[in-house]
Amino acid sequence: MADKTNSATLTFNNKQVELPIYSPTAGPDVLDIRKLYAEGGVFTYDPGYTSTASCDSAITYIDGDEGVLLHRGYPIDQLAEKSHFLEVCYLLLYGELPTADLLEDFESRVTNHTMIHEQMHMFFRGFRRDAHPMATMVGVVGAMSAFYHDSTDIADPWQREVASIRLIAKMPTIASMAFKYSIGQPFVYPRNDLDYASNFLRMCFSVPAEDYEVNPILSRAMDRIFTLHADHEQNASTSTVRLASSSGANPFASIAAGIACLWGPAHGGANQAALEMLREIGTVDQIPEYIKRAKDKDDPFRLMGFGHRVYKNFDPRAKVMKQSADEVLDLLGVENNETLKVAKELEKIALEDPYFVEKKLYPNVDFYSGIILDAMGFPTSMFTPIFAVARTVGWVSQWKEMITDPGLKIGRPRQLYTGPTYRDYVDVERR
Ligand code: SDX
Repeated sequence: MADKTNSATLTFNNKQVELPIYSPTAGPDVLDIRKLYAEGGVFTYDPGYTSTASCDSAITYIDGDEGVLLHRGYPIDQLAEKSHFLEVCYLLLYGELPTADLLEDFESRVTNHTMIHEQMHMFFRGFRRDAHPMATMVGVVGAMSAFYHDSTDIADPWQREVASIRLIAKMPTIASMAFKYSIGQPFVYPRNDLDYASNFLRMCFSVPAEDYEVNPILSRAMDRIFTLHADHEQNASTSTVRLASSSGANPFASIAAGIACLWGPAHGGANQAALEMLREIGTVDQIPEYIKRAKDKDDPFRLMGFGHRVYKNFDPRAKVMKQSADEVLDLLGVENNETLKVAKELEKIALEDPYFVEKKLYPNVDFYSGIILDAMGFPTSMFTPIFAVARTVGWVSQWKEMITDPGLKIGRPRQLYTGPTYRDYVDVERR
């Protein structure tokens, strides 16, 4: 917990309440309002939590004005370039970059938990073939609490550790099985001689009828996409996981709740929506029409992959993703990719348009990711499941941080009530 550095006195309704102010290691000071209702008899009001810190955390720091994203202090662009996803997982989970031995042990533990209980295969067969893979993932991950009873007791540090490793290890297997099921192909088992990203690509794209060689360009791009989506402070799905697990719900049920929240098009579902939007725009000459619609208050259309609650500058992940899109398409020999052309021109036009400049709307992590995933052969329905695979380590790290906080309380917000005041029941004859 940060130290008290100051205090604020709130004077209202003939009352004065003194509220402590804490200074973080980075970012804005916070005003501790926990005693405001007891001493002042009022609630604060902040739908959407635009000015509310829900917790203290030491995992990820975002400076939205400067376009900075740090994981345990390390900038995302350096991690994307110099690290790899499982090393970033270790950093997020345990707080420090691992030594070579610690990394080898961690990677071995993850690798040896990638298979799922054989009986869970039956779950997939209960879904319609055309079910969205996110629907399948919510169901199957929630069902993990019905199979892995030996890692659901959150009070037991060892069970918390096993649940963390199982979730990180099994998410790619579950996502690839959801994909295979949706295209009517047989499930592919993980292999222990492949790295995390290569394993995922092979489970998605190999078929029994022929050998499958992982393309190193694609596995590096896949690993980087996982790293760029790993954690992001108290976003909607992470806050969902924290709130769900604050009641003591088991980790698998809490992560399933996070997957459900991530699915929304305003959040993780934006990568699918962004590529579909770019395809709908089709060609560069259609862009002005869509920019006009995005600015029209009466039109619900928004530029998907643009804007962010925190970033009022470039999303640093979008910068890395844009470079990666160029590299991957070039290395794959994908020329004249109309969608990438539309994306780049749309970004250029939007960033010169007063509406977007004034509202500080920049491309976010979802704007370019879909172009890479599409070039890698994924259907748009798999974009958000891939986001969920990557974000699992962020959810698990934040969950672990909260569960081990001695000050943990169940999350229970209050409200500004606007409904009818007390009134007696009226019998139906007299209504
Ligand atoms: C992710 O929180 C995270 O960290 C999320 C994430 C993570 O890693 O976990 O970064 C991942 O979810 C990225 C965001 C993906 N979503 C999209 O790309 C969907 C399109 N973006 C918008 O829906 C919106 O920008 C949000 C939801 C991302 C942010 O919404 P806010 O913070 O509630 O902002 P807002 O809706 O109040 O917008 C402020 C203004 C509004 O205009 P006014 O009412 O002030 O006149 O900007 C406008 C909005 O209409 N606006 C847009 C816009 N985004 C905001 N106008 C056109 N196109 C857009 N994309």
